[in-house]
Amino acid sequence: MLSLIPSPTIQFKPLFPSKTIKPLKPFSSKSSIQSVLQWNRKPELAGETPRVVVITSGKGGVGKTTTTANVGLSLARFGFSVVAIDADVGLRNLDLLLGLENRVNYTVVEVLNGDCRLDQALVRDKRWSNFELLCISKPRSKLPLGFGGKALTWVVEALKSRQEGSPDFILIDCPAGIDAGFITAITPANEAVLVTTPDITSLRDADRVTGLLECDGIRDIKMVVNRVRTDMIKGEDMMSVLDIQEMLGLALLGVIPEDSEVIRSTNRGYPLVLNKPPTLAGLAFEQAAWRLVEQDSMKAVMVEEEPKRRGFFSFFGG
Ligand SMILES: Nc1ncnc2c1ncn2[C@@H]1O[C@H](COP(=O)(O)OP(=O)(O)OP(=O)(O)O)[C@@H](O)[C@H]1O
Ligand SMILES: [Mg+2]
Repeated sequence: MLSLIPSPTIQFKPLFPSKTIKPLKPFSSKSSIQSVLQWNRKPELAGETPRVVVITSGKGGVGKTTTTANVGLSLARFGFSVVAIDADVGLRNLDLLLGLENRVNYTVVEVLNGDCRLDQALVRDKRWSNFELLCISKPRSKLPLGFGGKALTWVVEALKSRQEGSPDFILIDCPAGIDAGFITAITPANEAVLVTTPDITSLRDADRVTGLLECDGIRDIKMVVNRVRTDMIKGEDMMSVLDIQEMLGLALLGVIPEDSEVIRSTNRGYPLVLNKPPTLAGLAFEQAAWRLVEQDSMKAVMVEEEPKRRGFFSFFGG
């Protein structure tokens, strides 16, 4: 049986299984962090487009919307066209994180009612014009009667057949829980990013959601472990990423550190990955986006020795 307590002598070192992703230099607070964008090349897009990816978790507040915004904008910065759908109907906030709240005039509800065209409901980001936001409904409104997986699938199909061409990525920001909103959000998806934090409540929900996704035929499920604190892992107060990976048995897309910049960027409506210079969490999101494009994953491996140069990426691989 897997233990939830990390082994005291075990430490983790980065591993990049892909030839295409090079490890970053270990991070220290003095060194400048380098962005994958400095490699001056585009990641190789694997799989059929559009890639329809649902970002889900089960437990609320673990970072789904933060992941959608930052991974979405990273994909746009790599040069891919992206539509991010906020499927969190009652508590929509992707528009806030993106700083686009004042520009959402129409939503999918108006499109379905015939009050506007789909392209009128799409909000183009001014910073990255290949990134668009689509909200299902106005804030605080209830899930419209009859709106479910079929309706969202219709929206996704309509996005695919747009005149300007199908987007490369359709990201669906899923609501918390496993009720109707969750079922609606996962229905059109072909793959999933499961966001979890290193605590047992989040992991139990993640495990339940993994089962539900698999029942729905979504086999490509990768996880993002968010709000990780290496100091707590070292002090054995937080589960290690390897333990989490063993518990859930999922491929690892990214490990995001706990970072107060995330909260600052949320409040400013300016996603972290746009920060200059990028912060540690911003970099981790960028790298997760890179792996998503290439259908790649990372692994946390055990090493007996203390890494010579400490830092977040020297633990997890960046
Ligand atoms: N890596 C991080 N470091 C620090 N704060 C974080 C991090 N990731 C997310 N947060 C904060 O956690 C809060 C919840 O994040 P977010 O809204 O993305 O979660 P969610 O899973 O979408 O929530 P919900 O289930 O309500 O939709 C936000 O205040 C966000 O700024
Ligand atoms: Mg959310």
